[in-house]
Amino acid sequence: MNKYYGLKPGTITSQELEHTKIVREVAARGMVLMENDGILPLKKGTKIALYGSGAKNTEFSGLGAASFVSREEVSILEGLERAGIIVTSKEYLEQYAEMIQVQEDAYYGRLREFLKESLITAVVEMYGTPLVLGAQPIISKEDLEKSGEAEIAVYVISRTAGEGADRRLTEGDYYLSKEEKDNLRILSENFNKLIVLLNIGSQIDTAYIRSLPNLSAMVFVGQAAGVTGLAVADVLTGKVTPEGKFVDTWAEKYEDYPNALNYGAMNGNLDDELYTEGIYVGYRYFDSFGIKPAYPFGYGLSYTDFEIKPENILKENGNLIVQTKVKNIGSQYAGREVVQVYVSAPKGELEKPYQELKGFQKTRLLKPGEDQKVQIEIELKDLASYNERKAAWVLEAGDYLIRVGNSSQNTSVAAVVQVKEEILCEQCRNLCQDETELQEMSAETVKSIKVKYNKETEIIDNVGKNLEESENAVAHNAAKDSNESAQLENVAEVNTSQVIEVSTQDIVYTCNTYRTPLWEKDKSEEKPKDFAHKSELTKNEDSPSVLQFKDVVNGHLSLDDFVNSLTAKEMCYLCVGNAGDEEATFVSYGSKNTKTDAIIPMAPGTCDTTRTMIESRGIPNMHMSDGGGGLRVLPQFEVDKVGNLLTEGVISVRNVDKIIGGDYIQDRVNHDVYEQYMTGLPIATMLAQTWDRDCWRKCGEIEGKEMQMTHVELWLAPSMNIHRNPLCGRNFEYYSEDPVITGQCGATVTKAIQKFRYAGVTIKHFACNNQEDNRQATNAHVSERALREIYLKGYEIAVKAANPAAMMTSYNLINGTHSANHYELLTSILRDEWGFDGMVMTDWGTTSSGENDKSKYKASTCWGCIRAGNDLIMPGAKADIDSLYHSVQTGKISLEELRICSRRILRTMLRLEAGRI
Ligand code: BGC
Repeated sequence: MNKYYGLKPGTITSQELEHTKIVREVAARGMVLMENDGILPLKKGTKIALYGSGAKNTEFSGLGAASFVSREEVSILEGLERAGIIVTSKEYLEQYAEMIQVQEDAYYGRLREFLKESLITAVVEMYGTPLVLGAQPIISKEDLEKSGEAEIAVYVISRTAGEGADRRLTEGDYYLSKEEKDNLRILSENFNKLIVLLNIGSQIDTAYIRSLPNLSAMVFVGQAAGVTGLAVADVLTGKVTPEGKFVDTWAEKYEDYPNALNYGAMNGNLDDELYTEGIYVGYRYFDSFGIKPAYPFGYGLSYTDFEIKPENILKENGNLIVQTKVKNIGSQYAGREVVQVYVSAPKGELEKPYQELKGFQKTRLLKPGEDQKVQIEIELKDLASYNERKAAWVLEAGDYLIRVGNSSQNTSVAAVVQVKEEILCEQCRNLCQDETELQEMSAETVKSIKVKYNKETEIIDNVGKNLEESENAVAHNAAKDSNESAQLENVAEVNTSQVIEVSTQDIVYTCNTYRTPLWEKDKSEEKPKDFAHKSELTKNEDSPSVLQFKDVVNGHLSLDDFVNSLTAKEMCYLCVGNAGDEEATFVSYGSKNTKTDAIIPMAPGTCDTTRTMIESRGIPNMHMSDGGGGLRVLPQFEVDKVGNLLTEGVISVRNVDKIIGGDYIQDRVNHDVYEQYMTGLPIATMLAQTWDRDCWRKCGEIEGKEMQMTHVELWLAPSMNIHRNPLCGRNFEYYSEDPVITGQCGATVTKAIQKFRYAGVTIKHFACNNQEDNRQATNAHVSERALREIYLKGYEIAVKAANPAAMMTSYNLINGTHSANHYELLTSILRDEWGFDGMVMTDWGTTSSGENDKSKYKASTCWGCIRAGNDLIMPGAKADIDSLYHSVQTGKISLEELRICSRRILRTMLRLEAGRI
């Protein structure tokens, strides 16, 4: 049985200190300097007047599965003070904190009412109705006088969001509240220098901030768990030169997003979500249709300047090699730059976005005057598009412009890849077609769609401008690339002397083959034996087997023989998480390991697979824990004198202690209290914003080590959904609007974690979990091309590059089928096309009908999960076991289908050496 080592309160290990140091650096490197007139960095001893909700009440993480509680949480106020900045407005901040407290008390007081039902009900209510802070005190003359000698004002805007609810297009959420605007105006009028910090998880409207006459600087500081305030101070004081670049487009105004008015709750239809923007997500849309963003994808300033010179662009073994030289041309600060490579593909039978990110590389820290050669490799077949008519990835004939720069709007064409004749790269099948006719956006249709959105004429006139320019540029002469917005300041002159010809010889052709589903075989002659006689069903039950899993572990028994010996009942238990009808967790004492204070079967706050067959079959329970914010286990837990664990795991979700009100430890005197503080990570979007594989690797290694320490075999992360619209409640937990950076980030984190023995990831939520309102029952209507090029691409990259141990399906439906029940998605694409050989599990409670009862689309089914290849139903309920068993008894699914899933679960246990202690 697994054991967990809890520490005596206050024990801080050297590993904890080391990990905190790493995330502080990564956090600072993931912040984005949006504006700076030279006011930043601030000198030590600078006096500032600090305001805004996040100054003292800093938001440290988003809500829900990826929320996190750190041992020490340093606010922005505290971080700045510790760094030697003098804050002159503390009296105001104290008063404001009291006001916030009143709002919080009322909010959590309301949630407390739900405790009557259960703690989980209260938590679900918290997920669905996150606290949006209301009124804030208007900065008065007296406040200004009191903050006296400061010449610089700093204003912190905070937001939080999380799973279960999308954000709203309202004041105080996407828009600034009236008081925020008033206070910003007052500060701009009374100070010559105003710095705005965005302590938020995803985009807000920045138009008002940008219009302030005395705005000197703006920084997206995000949320970075306990170190947030420290990392903010590092950037503001120049200890770290800002180097983060946006991984999303920040629109001038919300309506500029392609799905602005039909996203989620915006059009009142939460049942059917039409992905009419097709492949035009994020910058692919803004760039193609000539819509100028406030801050483009890939954008971010530094305290120094860089020059990027494309050098050679070569073709080698099916790869495009882009060689550049980057020089720090500033005189004062060392810094890092990101070389970004975008490709503009030619229009053929398929429309193409103006450009797409295909590769990138961060430099090392370059001192002023220092340079570095940077090489980026791009697989040529990654320039292909998905042609639905041919059900294939194809490189259409024409010129592909290779753009090099340091943001999507700041590139130069460095070479042209010429494809003389169309190249078929990979033959697939269309597997996720929508039965409803989806009218997708295109250069032709966008005009009418825009009119429907009541867009301003100015934008309608611009429609398709860049797209046409792009086509012309390709057709005529790449050297005359006419995209004005892409004219460069620091990037060297356009160099189109490099023309690279690509032909079929350069591409390894793939032809996918797909297994025949068992139920299809059943229709044919070749009937699986399970269906032949009912006696098969009870065979193992009549004469229970004594075969033990340990014999598979030590190589004396084949996994197949062991699985064949399992009864239908046993397999139903195995495939349904931990249904909770076993004995409670116990705690025991007296370990021989002197480092150990408490030993319990699993880290409190985690969940596990079934414990029913530990004794009878030696099948261990496998432990899992959320999530993107860091390993989410219970920071503190309590056991009574006879060893019972008294703390509910759900308390590990941020702010649940506030619902309970007061200390959740019942008796600190008579009970034993243990700690297991883990390391909080910067939100996923900030990780992506570093554009730095080294940062991703380091964060992955932190997770790997902490998983080993807590005996968690599966991390329920990374989350790799695409930022389709800024209002998605979980965007902070996802990386980006772009699938390539999403895929690379997920792959690097996965590899880093899985280097550690016993540790595996669970990439989620597969796929199209792009909205939170009605998340259990929303049906994403999306074209096969958009699905493959945008929404599945990141997963594909991570699966192929990093071999994740597990995947988690999403709650939603895709083109009419729950992804949890989607055979084509989970078997044909994930396994047959991409070669995934791990385990798939459901998201929590996907198969319980509760939330779906009132909805147009009912819940996914247990038997549908097994049939689709969704091996493990989590977290498991007795009803799921019963339902599954009934489906086998009635022949809805075969024993063989159940065996396939059981085998994959057991194989994952073998891979992760579950039950090793
Ligand atoms: C979330 C998942 C999470 C699971 C377990 C669900 O509500 O959607 O991301 O891993 O809960 O906490």
